[in-house]
Amino acid sequence: MEVQSIESKKAEQTRQVEQAKKMSPAEETASQPQGPIKMSGKDVSVFYGEKQALFDVNLEILENSVTSLIGPSGCGKSTFLRCLNRMNDVIDICRVSGLITLEGEDIYNPELDVVELRARVGMVFQKPNPFPKSIYDNIAYGPRIHGLTTDRAELDELVESSLKKAGLWEEVKDRLTESGTGLSGGQQQRLCIARAIATRPDVILMDEPCSALDPIATATIEELIDDLRKNYTIVIVTHSMQQAARVSQRTAFFHLGKIIEEGETSQIFTNPRNKKTQDYITGRYG
Ligand SMILES: Nc1ncnc2c1ncn2[C@@H]1O[C@H](COP(=O)(O)OP(=O)(O)OP(=O)(O)O)[C@@H](O)[C@H]1O
Ligand SMILES: [Mg+2]
Repeated sequence: MEVQSIESKKAEQTRQVEQAKKMSPAEETASQPQGPIKMSGKDVSVFYGEKQALFDVNLEILENSVTSLIGPSGCGKSTFLRCLNRMNDVIDICRVSGLITLEGEDIYNPELDVVELRARVGMVFQKPNPFPKSIYDNIAYGPRIHGLTTDRAELDELVESSLKKAGLWEEVKDRLTESGTGLSGGQQQRLCIARAIATRPDVILMDEPCSALDPIATATIEELIDDLRKNYTIVIVTHSMQQAARVSQRTAFFHLGKIIEEGETSQIFTNPRNKKTQDYITGRYG
């Protein structure tokens, strides 16, 4: 019984990978990074107290593209993602070394304004986390604290355009004063994306943004990610290989705190160079 269920799980994973291969939007060309580099990590190591979670990670994130971070639980995907907008700063025992740049600028430079950095590199979390405020105020909050608009009309416009970019405007335009927490899960996640967009970021980080959503809401978010890529650089952590294949152009495979392999998404899924990558995408572990 046990053996059978493991076998059927493997068969399902193999099926998912086969399907993922077919759906991959990326081109099957060389895997060298192409296009302008938006962010880069060089020899990034992260420690939580004595415990090292990342070991000399190197990754270049290309502008106007979606980069997926995949790998088994605990391999350091969220840790790396949080390095990109210094969210690890809020964890007392966490120490980051190496160089991380945004448009060539060291984001760990002590003179850099972290609040401004987090406006430029926004984040969307696994569980939709709207503020217990109106839909309007959820979006207006960031622009207000960053002083991005000068009058109410301009703020109204920014709220509307952010909700439009997140594909939520039509569903909420008549209920902007209602609470954001009253929306469905998928709507709440799009609200959180709109909230990130409202501070006019360059980069949007997403940590398993669909894992709390049903397949229809997931499909909506995936379409949105593909659309947002035109104007933003996106880094997404996902446990779904189909999702990585559907939404990303580049994929990095993490294992035990290291990047084992990184390249064009189609190459990673169809022709991985490393046996560990091969084992992961064919469901041997993870
Ligand atoms: N706040 C923390 N304090 C101490 N250790 C942590 C903390 N956050 C993460 N770690 C450790 O760092 C390692 C990497 O964790 P991380 O959350 O980055 O993994 P992950 O790849 O995102 O996993 P998952 O897929 O389960 O979300 C793990 O060993 C984890 O226990
Ligand atoms: Mg994680």
